[in-house]
Amino acid sequence: MNFSSFKHSSGFRGVAVGLTASALVMSAAVLAQGADAGHRSQRIIGGTEVANGAHPFSVALLETGHGSARDRQFCGGSVASPDVILTAAHCVAGATSNELEVVAGRTVLSDAKQGQVRAVAPEGVVVHPRYAKNRAYDVAFVILAKPLKGISPVKLPTAGTDALIRPGQKATVVGWGNTDSNMGNFPDRLRQVQVPLLAHDECQVSYPKGYDSSVNICAGAEGKDSCQGDSGGPLFRTVRGRQDPLQIGVVSSGDGCAEQGAPGIYTSLSSAKLWKTLDESAKGREIKEWLRR
Ligand code: ARG
Repeated sequence: MNFSSFKHSSGFRGVAVGLTASALVMSAAVLAQGADAGHRSQRIIGGTEVANGAHPFSVALLETGHGSARDRQFCGGSVASPDVILTAAHCVAGATSNELEVVAGRTVLSDAKQGQVRAVAPEGVVVHPRYAKNRAYDVAFVILAKPLKGISPVKLPTAGTDALIRPGQKATVVGWGNTDSNMGNFPDRLRQVQVPLLAHDECQVSYPKGYDSSVNICAGAEGKDSCQGDSGGPLFRTVRGRQDPLQIGVVSSGDGCAEQGAPGIYTSLSSAKLWKTLDESAKGREIKEWLRR
């Protein structure tokens, strides 16, 4: 597939600023995001800057090419193992290995000295087998051509447990996505925001269609949310008595950003069904074995 349709389908940076080479493609993407286009928040999405080296499992997906990673970043992801990146299916579905690159261990996108850049292995894009049929299974894996060095993979929850996603608890989401859904502003430095986890019932009220409680969670409050460009990135939290954070979700979708009554929708990594149905493709089974899920 050609690259513009890849971006088009990926929800690539919804709001374009300035006349970059991809401005046309990006405005096409704005039109494509029908559901998102109706509501535009007036406010900043409530995050703060991340210090260099914090949340080292957080990665950026880049389109291959020349120029700053800041101009090439289109989604987030996380390190699931030294050579497997976890992201959203809508970020990479239809993309081929040579269209993508991953940068890990970098906080400031334009700082080429930070972190490690990796190519993607041939046939290294593995989308959840149920994604095409049901947009709810919005998760994919990107296999790197060469493993990352010295970055600990993020911990994942035990499938089929819900202790980590009890409503009212807080989690953190990070990304280089839009910080102002009215104007469009894409930061160079990684940002984070704390969002409350909501009950499935509430999520269902906000999204009568498009929310599947067996594979999704939703989180956020007015003024606090992930947004375009954050997709694929991690939603994570710490638990008492454990040092390392656990990644409970993957940024997937939402109606606008940070609006009242329209929380962000995440793919739930606690979902037993999400991991079980990964078996429906040979590549999915392989990934599961690598990650020992
Ligand atoms: N689909 C968006 C992207 O491609 C992520 C949207 C998240 N929206 C939200 N309100 N939390 O980056």
